[in-house]
Amino acid sequence: MKIGRRDWIFLGIVAAVFIAFFAISGPEKTKKLPKDADHQQFNEMLKAGKKKSEVDPLCESCHDGVKIKFPEKHPAKPGGAPMRCLFCHKSQ
Ligand code: HEC
Ligand code: HEC
Repeated sequence: MKIGRRDWIFLGIVAAVFIAFFAISGPEKTKKLPKDADHQQFNEMLKAGKKKSEVDPLCESCHDGVKIKFPEKHPAKPGGAPMRCLFCHKSQ
């Protein structure tokens, strides 16, 4: 098969999509749910098949923004809608 101009354009677009995809992915930077005494129970619950949405509300008993403060630029603040902690902080 002869590769014509149109094919090269098509291949160029495919390559660009792949490059863009890898550029935006990169390694996960958000901290994972720690594997310590406070958090291991949640790692276990999720491993046992509990839904993230069932475990998320349990975080705020400690992480209420008062007992444990969130970083200044934390993308989610307590008070409004229930926070999906585990959507960003993955269990391990
Ligand atoms: C029993 C209290 C308690 C509960 C419940 C709790 N945490 Fe924590 N969490 C802590 C404490 C204390 C720290 C600070 C530990 C430290 O800095 O070493 C912490 C730190 C963290 C950190 C930062 C870890 C790091 O590497 O700096 C993340 C992320 C986190 N918690 C997520 C969660 C999520 C998600 C939940 C709910 C599934 C949750 N925590 C429930 C007490 C709790
Ligand atoms: C939209 C994504 C998102 C949600 C939802 C979210 N976080 Fe975070 N969180 C981040 C990012 C990003 C950082 C700053 C980068 C980092 O340190 O992981 C952070 C930082 C933290 C830290 C400080 C880590 C440190 O450096 O000491 C804690 C503790 C934490 N989050 C707990 C929680 C808890 C508990 C919830 C749910 C109540 C939650 N987060 C919901 C994205 C999120």
